[in-house]
Amino acid sequence: MRKILVTSALPYANGSIHLGHLLEYIQTDIWVRFQKLRGEQCTYVCADDAHGTAIMLRAEKESISPEQLIDRVNKEHQKDFAGFHVNFDNYHSTHSPENQTLSNAIYSALVEQDKIASRSITQAFDPEKELFLADRFVKGTCPKCKAEDQYGDNCESCGATYSPMELINPVSAISGAIPIEKESTHFFFKLPEFEDFLKDWTRSGTLQDQIANKLSEWLDSGLQEWDISRDAPYFGFEIPDQPGKYFYVWLDAPIGYMASFKNLCDKRDDLEFDDYWRAGSETELYHFIGKDIINFHALFWPAMLHCANYRTPTAVNAHGFVTVNGKKMSKSRGTFIKAATYLDHLDPEYLRYYFAAKLTSSVEDLDLNLDDFAQRVNSDLVGKVVNIASRCAGFIHKRFEGKLAQRCEEQALLDQFINAGDNIAAHYEAREFGKAIRQIMELADLANQYIDEKAPWVIAKEEGKHAELQQICSNGINMFRQLITYLAPVLPAMALKAEAFLNTELTWDARTHLLLGHDITKFKAMMTRVDLAKIDNMLEDSKQAVAAEMQLGKKVESLASSEAAESGFEPIAEEVEFDDFAKIDLRVALIKNAEHVDGAKKLLKLTLDLGFAEKQVFSGIKSAYQPDELIGKHTVMIANLKARKMKFGISEGMVLAAGPGGQDIWLLEPHEGASAGMRIT
Ligand code: 2FM
Ligand code: ZN
Repeated sequence: MRKILVTSALPYANGSIHLGHLLEYIQTDIWVRFQKLRGEQCTYVCADDAHGTAIMLRAEKESISPEQLIDRVNKEHQKDFAGFHVNFDNYHSTHSPENQTLSNAIYSALVEQDKIASRSITQAFDPEKELFLADRFVKGTCPKCKAEDQYGDNCESCGATYSPMELINPVSAISGAIPIEKESTHFFFKLPEFEDFLKDWTRSGTLQDQIANKLSEWLDSGLQEWDISRDAPYFGFEIPDQPGKYFYVWLDAPIGYMASFKNLCDKRDDLEFDDYWRAGSETELYHFIGKDIINFHALFWPAMLHCANYRTPTAVNAHGFVTVNGKKMSKSRGTFIKAATYLDHLDPEYLRYYFAAKLTSSVEDLDLNLDDFAQRVNSDLVGKVVNIASRCAGFIHKRFEGKLAQRCEEQALLDQFINAGDNIAAHYEAREFGKAIRQIMELADLANQYIDEKAPWVIAKEEGKHAELQQICSNGINMFRQLITYLAPVLPAMALKAEAFLNTELTWDARTHLLLGHDITKFKAMMTRVDLAKIDNMLEDSKQAVAAEMQLGKKVESLASSEAAESGFEPIAEEVEFDDFAKIDLRVALIKNAEHVDGAKKLLKLTLDLGFAEKQVFSGIKSAYQPDELIGKHTVMIANLKARKMKFGISEGMVLAAGPGGQDIWLLEPHEGASAGMRIT
């Protein structure tokens, strides 16, 4: 039995899980379930990545402590993952005692080996917020091409790289203050001293070729020391004996893999931490990650592990990004779909299947084409796989009291199904899930052809063909059992239903013995067809969620995975010309009526009286106000916002409100004496 430890990247503890994340967790979960189905000891751990400036600022914005924020998000994340059947053996947090102990120990080992340097560096500092600003938190005009509103590390317009203080008119994206330069001591991991080790390690079959080639380029152009410290205020672990200095989030994040496993070992007798982590361990360790974080996993991480005398990963498996309908996920198109929004409308196994059908072992991006998604799930799973069982089960029940035939007279055909398992297993093992699915669907076609040819519905009407009918249907059911065994890693909920129906446990090895003279139970529908209207509703809901966020003044977040971008933190929006501002007609409105909207979680329907006109507006403020509390209040609205068709009706404006969300949404209320229709100037 192999002993395998598997991880997926730890999601930041300040944002929701969306379909972009899910590709990785689904990919990993399928691989882990496949190993377990084969009888290997495979352990899958993960955790929330709970540290960093972004999380600190997010908590501050919500007026809660970082601990409160990360606890809340941890629960949300676990719920989302469970909703998609992602079955971690342990889900922990990097803000945990195990992680602090391990981080301190690894850091101390690096210090002992003289691999930590310290020196003073000059950085941009926000004098209002009194904190050092990471490059992405400074914005200004590119010193080279003069493009405005560029981040402090590089220019998106001309590609120039620079330090933040080289920007023309730099401003802090946090407060808008002009940053100053300030010195402080930082600690650095001496990565260049691991060049030879890393050249060997990255070429030893641990990485996909494309990734290994990229790393060769980096290694050839010379490694830099890695800054592993941050100054207070920072949400993280204070560095031992260095008051006011904290480990950079990316130092303790991968150690979080170990910490989550340690936490699990403390709960389980059959797992030994050292067995999996000591140098020279023969157990296997795999990290599944996105291609954007390869440097952390294939340079810093193996070097740290090696230096601290731990084992290094067996392989780091990187995947590409998700696009939807050929384009980057977009909030305005409604394709920035959160896990929870998807689950409100669609079966998680549709997505698991679609991702599996398109996944390869490469780092290519994966397109979720929604028409293809519906078509593929309907034709493959409902039309082919489930159909096999439903075509045969009725006869076995009605005519044979649920008992399958004692013998199989089509052994050669069934052997074809059984033998295909080796190839399918090889594809799963190599993360070529698309190839596995193609082969499974070829078998499904074969099974359907067999049933079409034998036409049990015709045989059933003929005299003296009783045994033949049982034979055909039993073969069909046995073929279905092979297929569902192969699909079980992808479709765990359907596999459970199939286990109940087949009255047997599905394992990779058990499939080699056919079910003969075996009692099955009544067939119940295992999956319904994808309803296109539900996809539309999901997109509409995603758009509304964005509209509600926008109403709260949240700026659309970019999908980039930098700490700042992941934070949900709101940099000051792009400057607008006065003429643009002047186009907005802000008016005082009397809230004449407010009512709940059937089926809407966040929206209230408001009737706003401007004196000379009435407008109907859907506003995402239900979490903070009951309709009764609003009626009779004056508020401020954008009166000339183009009417928009929303799921529940037309919205003809927007009410101005502010606050972090939840119960804290404050309506902008004009002072006494305001009357409806009054223009705000
Ligand atoms: O990029 C990210 O979302 C990080 N939170 C991933 C961390 S993976 C690991 F190293 F912890
Ligand atoms: Zn530029």
